Amino acid sequence: MSAAPRRVRLVPFIGVLVVAVLATAGVTALLLNISERKAEERNPYVRLVEVDEDTTDPEVWGANWPKQYDTYKLTSLATRTRFGGHGGSEALPEEKIERDPWLQRMFRGYAFAIDYRDRRGHAYMLWDQENTKRQTVPQSGSCIHCHASVIPLYKELGDGDVVEGFEKTYAMSYAETNEKLHELGHAHPVSCVDCHDPKTMRIRVTRPAFIQGIQAFAEGDGAAPHLPSVQRWREGPRKAPYDPNADGTRGEMRSFVCGQCHVEYYCSDKFKLTYPWADGLSVEDAEKFWDETTFADGERFYDYKHKETGAPILKAQHPEFEMWSQGIHARSGVSCSDCHMPYMRDGATKVSDHWVRSPLLNKERACLTCHHFSEEEMQARVDGIQDRNMELLQNAGAALMDLLDAIAAARAAGATEAQLAPALEYQRKAQWRLDWVAAENSMGFHAPQEAARILGTAADLARQGQVAAMKAQVSAAGRGSPRNDLAGPGSPRPRG
Ligand code: HEC
Ligand code: HEC
Ligand code: HEC
Ligand code: HEC
Ligand code: HEC
Repeated sequence: MSAAPRRVRLVPFIGVLVVAVLATAGVTALLLNISERKAEERNPYVRLVEVDEDTTDPEVWGANWPKQYDTYKLTSLATRTRFGGHGGSEALPEEKIERDPWLQRMFRGYAFAIDYRDRRGHAYMLWDQENTKRQTVPQSGSCIHCHASVIPLYKELGDGDVVEGFEKTYAMSYAETNEKLHELGHAHPVSCVDCHDPKTMRIRVTRPAFIQGIQAFAEGDGAAPHLPSVQRWREGPRKAPYDPNADGTRGEMRSFVCGQCHVEYYCSDKFKLTYPWADGLSVEDAEKFWDETTFADGERFYDYKHKETGAPILKAQHPEFEMWSQGIHARSGVSCSDCHMPYMRDGATKVSDHWVRSPLLNKERACLTCHHFSEEEMQARVDGIQDRNMELLQNAGAALMDLLDAIAAARAAGATEAQLAPALEYQRKAQWRLDWVAAENSMGFHAPQEAARILGTAADLARQGQVAAMKAQVSAAGRGSPRNDLAGPGSPRPRG
């Protein structure tokens, strides 16, 4: 017998041996890796103090995670940019509000016409809410949802059930809810425990209104090209409701933690704090949601009746999450945290900057990691977007003022409620869109083309409303066709 066949038989044997050794090594490495990860998950950081669900004081967490705590504390510093860090809820600098009376006139009849305070860093959120002059009008206990580390308070109010406690607050007064928060020792602005699981330090969402809102969104069919986990859930068996903490990807969570508060909402004493997302996240989706919502007495939902015209108005609040959702960054998987909490180097490790602020104060880390241009070039691109947005905003604001003038003129001429109804409906629609962009805090940056589209539509609706009011005026006067009357006394003044 030649040696050849034996060698031939040996080859597969050695092959099997090698494969077995490699596989064992592989499995061992994998097991080691898994157990390391498990250990990491259990205790990824050296802990000097224990923190749990009731540790709302960030200083306690600071003993374990000093880098994050140190930067978190910087949110008490001033952060003014051209459009950022000031301007109350309307994204417009104070001087602008004085120069552009249209904003104040638009809000006549609403508490927002009383006080615009500087919007500023997270460190101030509770204090600013406690001290706004808008508190001279009684406010709902649900206001506190986005201005304090509130979960232990909900637990207490709901006898251990967070959601039940949350759902009680809308009917409580702000004063009572706030007092209880202080009594329990949880009077802190948004804290570590609001975004982190104290056991694993994983980021998570805790706000019941966000969890309910995003569940309703998943159950609807609103566009979600930027939220792959929502798409996956929609295509799956849907055995349990969509759960951002279990289903969300890490990338999505890096935006969801902010979406807990930087969103459009209803917060008053008629029903619980609600995020209007069941039909989707666009301005039209939210409008549809509110239009189809009724109060207990069957009346269609509104936030306030406009003091001059009586129109039932929808008030928009800081829809950053919704607007970001419409933009190219969201679609490219760029999260809020990528720009507002960029990584910084700390020796060999990377730390997320917890000084949440305008990325324009931090362009090198916030933008240049992805865009390989100079800081000046990135600033110029943002300026271009914000300037155009500002101009469109002013145009739409002027159109709305003309609509209000036209309604006033028609009223003065004796137009009836029925005759004015179409113009008032246009006012509601135009104001909703104008306010959506004005209340959004990026001056158009989060979704430039979407903001421009909305403002274009707002101006168009305001002009259509103006025409409707002129028609009402003519009908009230009971003569001729509208065209003959446009130049008559009492008709809207031309602008300019
Ligand atoms: C691609 C980067 C980027 C992403 C992603 C992003 N933002 Fe912004 N954001 C900006 C820029 C730029 C501004 C304008 C800042 C200015 O005018 O000073 C801004 C403004 C803001 C402001 C007002 C800042 C201030 O100083 O007043 C808030 C609040 C905000 N963003 C929240 C969010 C939230 C919440 C998300 C996610 C849902 C998000 N942003 C996603 C870049 C980003
Ligand atoms: C618990 C609610 C809550 C959460 C969660 C939250 N914010 Fe805020 N944020 C606020 C409030 C309230 C203010 C305004 C504080 C004030 O003016 O007193 C604010 C202010 C800001 C500002 C303006 C800062 C400045 O210096 O002017 C930015 C930017 C911002 N938030 C971005 C974010 C981002 C990004 C996230 C997620 C990483 C986030 N926020 C998470 C409630 C929240
Ligand atoms: C869904 C979350 C949420 C709820 C509920 C909420 N806020 Fe805020 N609030 C924010 C965010 C986010 C900001 C920062 C962005 C901005 O100012 O546009 C803010 C800013 C503020 C500010 C500082 C800027 C300004 O507008 O003067 C005050 C004051 C304030 N809120 C009061 C209230 C009151 C009163 C209520 C109850 C009617 C309330 N908030 C309910 C999220 C919320
Ligand atoms: C508004 C939400 C929010 C709050 C409040 C917050 N964090 Fe974070 N934190 C984040 C996000 C987002 C990340 C990035 C996590 C990721 O990508 O997995 C992060 C990351 C971390 C990490 C992981 C390492 C790193 O830096 O990326 C630690 C540790 C941490 N935070 C500690 C803290 C501590 C301590 C506090 C309170 C002083 C705090 N965080 C408050 C959102 C928050
Ligand atoms: C994590 C990566 C990332 C970060 C951080 C980032 N961008 Fe972008 N940016 C993108 C991507 C991806 C696009 C989409 C265009 C593309 O695919 O080339 C984009 C597009 C843009 C556009 C074009 C917008 C449009 O509507 O067409 C501008 C302007 C821009 N970014 C500015 C900024 C600024 C300013 C910052 C910092 C505040 C920033 N980006 C941070 C990834 C990023």
